[in-house]
Amino acid sequence: MQNKINAILEESKAKLDEIKSLKDLDDLRVKVLGKKGDLTAILKNMKDLAPEEKKEVGMLVNKAKQDVEEMISSKLAEVKAKALEEKLKAEKLDVTEPGTKHQLGAKHPLTVVTEEITKVFTSMGFSIVEGPEIETVFHNFDALNAGPNHPARDMTDTFYVNDQVLLRTQTSPVQVRTLLSQEPPIRVISPGRVFRCDTPDATHSPVFHQIEGLVVDEGITMADLKGVMDSFAKKLFGEETRTKFRPHHFPFTEPSAEMDVSCFKCGGKGCRVCKGSGWIEILGCGMVHPNVLKVGDVDTEKYTGFAFGLGVERVAMLKYGIDDIRLNYENDIRYIRQFKK
Ligand code: DAH
Repeated sequence: MQNKINAILEESKAKLDEIKSLKDLDDLRVKVLGKKGDLTAILKNMKDLAPEEKKEVGMLVNKAKQDVEEMISSKLAEVKAKALEEKLKAEKLDVTEPGTKHQLGAKHPLTVVTEEITKVFTSMGFSIVEGPEIETVFHNFDALNAGPNHPARDMTDTFYVNDQVLLRTQTSPVQVRTLLSQEPPIRVISPGRVFRCDTPDATHSPVFHQIEGLVVDEGITMADLKGVMDSFAKKLFGEETRTKFRPHHFPFTEPSAEMDVSCFKCGGKGCRVCKGSGWIEILGCGMVHPNVLKVGDVDTEKYTGFAFGLGVERVAMLKYGIDDIRLNYENDIRYIRQFKK
């Protein structure tokens, strides 16, 4: 019996030396000490032994059990320490390594210019409103006094969704939406995207951006229009900037004008930017046509107003000397970074 117990002990020792995983260690524990284990089997068979033998074998088995338990628990500590060591090695982190450099973007020139312009107007007490890019023919043309035969309605200029709905060709429909939803006094600007059925080239894009302005109050005259536009130009292009107004035609204003600013490049002497004239055309404007005010149920005996609209791409291109409008839509980070503020 003693030999049998020694053999179990020897075998366990030999196996333990080879064990590397917690699972194998547990398997060994079950095989020797478990309910159906080798040592347990000896204890179970003791009923057939003589009483004095029983005592001796019992002692031997219990001693052997103790030995195996001790061996297993010291091996357990060893296996765990090894596993931890390997884990630490695998997860080693070199905090002195240079980090990954994340490339920072920059504001798009059109965003920079839009923000500059809106800031000038908000500082004058204007608030910002927005309108939908998919518009009705009513808001984009009819309500803006552009009669059914107005050339801008043509299929060649306008993207129609159907005969009632289109992609807005201008931000002016926001004037209509504002007149329908607000009571005078009104002082708003509305930046946004507009669409025209143009073939892209250096100066045309089927999608571009405008900023619309609308002021309606008692006693608003052309002098207010000129005063606000002049101080806007001085704030955007510099205090030395001069402005002039040329008669023009827009269906939604009467009288209508275009405003030129003295060339911010040459100061008016004549250069490449102003094509030698000393002046640069910046925006369209005028006194709001009574027909437009009437759409919003505004009392035209009591209230008058002025409106204006400018192209963001045009201002950005003049300001930064950009010679191709398409550069704005290519998302080339090298282009965009140049206008970092
Ligand atoms: N909507 C005009 C355009 O796209 C620009 C414009 C001109 C807007 C005069 C106005 C304005 O509000 O008064 O060409």
